[in-house]
Amino acid sequence: MDARPIGVFDSGVGGLTVFRSLEAALPGESFVYLGDTARVPYGTKSPETVGRYGVEAARFLRKQDVKMVIVACNTVSSVALDAVAAEAGVPVAGVIQPGARRAVALTRRGRIGVIGTRATIASEAYPRAILALREDVEVFSSPCPLFVPLAEEGWTDNEVARRTAETYLATLEAAGVDTLVLGCTHYPLLAGVIGEVMGGDVALVDSADAVASEVRERLSGDPRLAAPAAGAPAPSRFYVTDSPAPFAAVAERFLGRPVGLIGRAGIAGE
Ligand code: DGL
Repeated sequence: MDARPIGVFDSGVGGLTVFRSLEAALPGESFVYLGDTARVPYGTKSPETVGRYGVEAARFLRKQDVKMVIVACNTVSSVALDAVAAEAGVPVAGVIQPGARRAVALTRRGRIGVIGTRATIASEAYPRAILALREDVEVFSSPCPLFVPLAEEGWTDNEVARRTAETYLATLEAAGVDTLVLGCTHYPLLAGVIGEVMGGDVALVDSADAVASEVRERLSGDPRLAAPAAGAPAPSRFYVTDSPAPFAAVAERFLGRPVGLIGRAGIAGE
């Protein structure tokens, strides 16, 4: 049994979609969430920069004495998972492998679409992971950078969101994908509009849900790592690298409830 919290980190507020899924899947666990709000977005930055940020976040979480680190950010998971794992000193899980596994399990015609930030799509991490699991599929990718500010603004179900989705997703629709990986923390919030545009027969893969189920399986298979069954878990803690107030406002929208006290973390150069 291990009562220590699970560390979750993201470039900002978007990783709360992963936190939300983890909390639902693992009600006995407590979490430490770190959002690097001073340096978001990561999705427009080089792999070297994203790697450095990821290592600094891992060092911060290590100091919080977490028992495991979940890399909620698809961009970090795509370009720097090994560097984060080397720094964390505890088991680390990213979102790419769970998302890829779920996509391969769901595809009917072997035509899989992937959407994400520019950095995630340029890294080709999802196609690599998918093709390593199953060679006879085709993967079609498209970056959708404007989905991130739309989700943060709460514009997830209006005409702007719909037009943006139609424009970004046209090539994937034309390619006839039957499964679409939402390869960015923010995209599950736009799942309604994305589903409408792609049509009901396209399966959407929420990598937040996929990683949460895999972490649950891992903890149930390893009793030394899971929290003690008795007693309520300690309340989760939240840290950001910029002012907490804007994070609190968007977090409330992402989670549908206030997150409580938010600490300020200085992680740059750690
Ligand atoms: N968290 C990022 C991701 O999942 C999206 C926001 C950003 O660009 O930092 O890729």
